[in-house]
Amino acid sequence: MILLVISSIICLQAYEIDVNTFSNYLDVHNRHLHLEWLLNMDKKYINATSVYTFQVVGPQINKISLDIYKLNIYSTYLTNGLLLPHTIDSPYADSDQGQRLNIQLDRTYYRGEYIELSIKYSIDSKSRSISFMTKEQTSTKTMPYLFSQCEDANCRALAPLQDTPAIKQTYTATIIFKDTEAADVFMSANESQDQFLILNKPQDEPNFNWKYKYFIQEVPIPSYLIAIVAGNIEKKKTSTGGRTYLISEPDKIVPYADELKDMEQFLLAIEDYIGPYTWGTYTLVIQPPSFPIGGMENPLLTFANPSIMTGKGTGLSVTIHEMAHSWFGNTITCVNWANMWINEGFTVFLERKASFTHYNSTDDIKLNAIIGNTSMYQDMLGYGLNSNFSSLHPDTTGLNPDDSFSEIPYEKGFQFLTYLEQIVGQDDFKQMLRAYLDQYKYQSIDQKEFQNFLLRYLQEQDVKDFSTKRYKILENWDKWVYNPGLPPVILDFSTNKLTEAQEYCDGYIRADGQQPTNWQDYDNFLQTQKLIFLEDLYKKAENNLLKLNVVDQIDKDLKLTQENDFELKFRWFRAILTAGDKNRLTQVAEFLGQIGRGKMVYPVYRALNQLDHEFAVQTFQTHEAFYHPIARNNIRNILGLRDSFIQ
Ligand code: BES
Ligand code: ZN
Repeated sequence: MILLVISSIICLQAYEIDVNTFSNYLDVHNRHLHLEWLLNMDKKYINATSVYTFQVVGPQINKISLDIYKLNIYSTYLTNGLLLPHTIDSPYADSDQGQRLNIQLDRTYYRGEYIELSIKYSIDSKSRSISFMTKEQTSTKTMPYLFSQCEDANCRALAPLQDTPAIKQTYTATIIFKDTEAADVFMSANESQDQFLILNKPQDEPNFNWKYKYFIQEVPIPSYLIAIVAGNIEKKKTSTGGRTYLISEPDKIVPYADELKDMEQFLLAIEDYIGPYTWGTYTLVIQPPSFPIGGMENPLLTFANPSIMTGKGTGLSVTIHEMAHSWFGNTITCVNWANMWINEGFTVFLERKASFTHYNSTDDIKLNAIIGNTSMYQDMLGYGLNSNFSSLHPDTTGLNPDDSFSEIPYEKGFQFLTYLEQIVGQDDFKQMLRAYLDQYKYQSIDQKEFQNFLLRYLQEQDVKDFSTKRYKILENWDKWVYNPGLPPVILDFSTNKLTEAQEYCDGYIRADGQQPTNWQDYDNFLQTQKLIFLEDLYKKAENNLLKLNVVDQIDKDLKLTQENDFELKFRWFRAILTAGDKNRLTQVAEFLGQIGRGKMVYPVYRALNQLDHEFAVQTFQTHEAFYHPIARNNIRNILGLRDSFIQ
């Protein structure tokens, strides 16, 4: 009995461990990180020093282990100057997770003690997180460009770190750069009014000036949220009086700011549901087109792919999504990548609540849920309906957690929360989420903790029918989280807008190369209906029901090959390539050189590879230098080429 009580106390406190870090983070916790980086943008090289404030949280330690990935480590030392010996090993033969840096301490340190140490190292173009671009690869072609992408486990390629979402630290940074190589530099932090001591003064060289920028992030954040961007970039307020800003190369900043003039309203719509935004300002960086994903929620400095700028505002849900991460992901964080839905599922849920407030229509939300469900199901089929990667709790032991990345934490997570909301009631659920944020802000948690909180909250609030609700919540909980494949309860998101879009697609198939009478309905469709139409077209193509005369007629009517909204364009190309269309290969190849966003190029490469492997490889080779290293590697895998990060 006593044992049971003790073990239940332990269980209540201990969160799940992170299998994707080599660090001894359960024994020692980094509280603050300082980075000093000297950028050599032309030479694709960063000379770096990192300074840590570790606190012992286990009983005692005599070494500190950190995650690294292809970093050049020069020396490790206590900040009082004492050199500490270090070794590097790879616990897994396959180095995809990187290596472990072991630093031998000068003595045993005990619980509560602090250890201040520094590492001198460098980052080069082998880095998996920093993308070094030449000036030719930018839009203004005047300066080189550099940006980072750390989620999920790529921060170890930026600095030796406890690369786990379980550990949160504050950070400061000094960035030193040449005025000829970057107009400005920004990080996922505020610019600091105070200057920091320069640890390595750069040597004077003629023809340029060194510039210094100082940053401070006072909120403890997980290491995957550290971010930097440098190049010919500038910052502009998006609307008067608001908190939102935009950063991009100067040539596009005016039209971008125009399309983003509602950013402050998005923030207000989210706050309306979930409570105040606590980070201060909000800045969106529109990155070069090779940015490998749609958006990344770096605190104070979201990064986004330019494909979200369609000229018509149709790509802006990505902005709402990344903003929503300021609460879910950046304030409360998943404790390991198996619990990613604690970030992404909650964020999609909040994103859809805010779009409802902003656009005041349920149709778009339902259609997005349906589109999301379709992509989720495709991902599940890809992994196998019985694979635990098709569950809300993937096991990535020994793997790069990126391997389990899919729509599942987003959409199954969203559906699970919608299901719980239906049990709890909309208003109580909203209040619960606000209380949850307050309780766990600046912490990292697992799904079991969320369950404990939810039940405790409902009980404490004495909600109506508590015991029935408790029973219903627990009834399917573990099935939602651990069972692979489709959710245990199927939710209904149907709307007549869905049938309208599906019937429109059927109409084209039936017309067999003629123009259907209602062909102009497309102009009045919601963007989400257009997406449904194109998803359906792809399904037809997969079932050999999309004939080339129909492809030609659709293109003649709807001009999809010339479409500027890449969400529509990539789905169009995927459908017609699957249908066997070889008449638009030039335009497909051109598209694949305009954008490097994985979600858009991978499906097109897959379809192109099936249709014409040679042409797919040739297209890839033409654009290889343009892609981000992560995208490059994934495309190589799709085409069955050698898998490597060699540049
Ligand atoms: N946090 C993710 C991006 C991410 C997840 C990067 C996992 C690496 C690993 C970001 O918030 C995101 O979800 N971006 C989406 C767009 C969003 C609207 C669903 C994307 O990039 O497509
Ligand atoms: Zn997200």
